[in-house]
Amino acid sequence: MTIPDIIIAVDGYSSTGKSTFARLVAAEFGFLYLDSGAMYRGVTLAGLEAGVIGDGKIDEAGVKGIIGPLDLHFRREEGTTKLFLGDRCIEKEIREWEVSQYVSPVSAIPFVRNWVDEKLHAFSAGGRVIMDGRDIGTTVFPNAELKIFMTADEDVRARRRYDEMVLKGIETTVEEVAANLKDRDYRDSHRPTSPLRRAEDAYVLDNTHMTLHEEVVWLLGLIQGKFGLLDSPGLSC
Ligand code: DC
Repeated sequence: MTIPDIIIAVDGYSSTGKSTFARLVAAEFGFLYLDSGAMYRGVTLAGLEAGVIGDGKIDEAGVKGIIGPLDLHFRREEGTTKLFLGDRCIEKEIREWEVSQYVSPVSAIPFVRNWVDEKLHAFSAGGRVIMDGRDIGTTVFPNAELKIFMTADEDVRARRRYDEMVLKGIETTVEEVAANLKDRDYRDSHRPTSPLRRAEDAYVLDNTHMTLHEEVVWLLGLIQGKFGLLDSPGLSC
């Protein structure tokens, strides 16, 4: 099946499966996948490593000092995109617990958001992009041709994230994970700069009771309805 050259913006709450969904769509239909949350996580990791974030504090002037020359970029590898800091792949480190605890307040800093937005626009220059985050359809690409807003029940999200962390060998509890998700969703939705909210023209995808395959079929139906008939359907997933 062919999808036209469009920008697809995928926003939504934490752990709604945005990146799994967007990565799969990108791989199936030849889109560039960009994970905007990874950029905020990358800045947070760099801040932790530089000692300007830590002990429950964020030294904003310190973050400003390191962010300018920070060489954060995506590389296409093994059929997907991965985040690099210089020559180091940091996909794993940016998912660690410490980064998750600081990333929401770091992402609320306006100069961090401006810096990330500029990078995201530069990375997307060729078009045919699917990007996930919290403000893609509202701020980063307000003119995206297709906007999706993902949501799912809180308990289901916490359980999914907990299972993922256990698989990665990270020690935690469902309660701890649920508290972190709740805290991040609250902060992300209530910050003054580009808060998480559904763009008026975004389609809601509630995947509480859906499989990944059903999500992709839903998307294809949407695209077919919006952009007209495409080639015959065929999905490998
Ligand atoms: O999607 P994620 O959990 O990896 O995102 C990490 C944090 O980054 C999340 O708490 C909110 C922030 N974020 C944001 O503010 N804007 C985006 N476009 C993407 C993520």
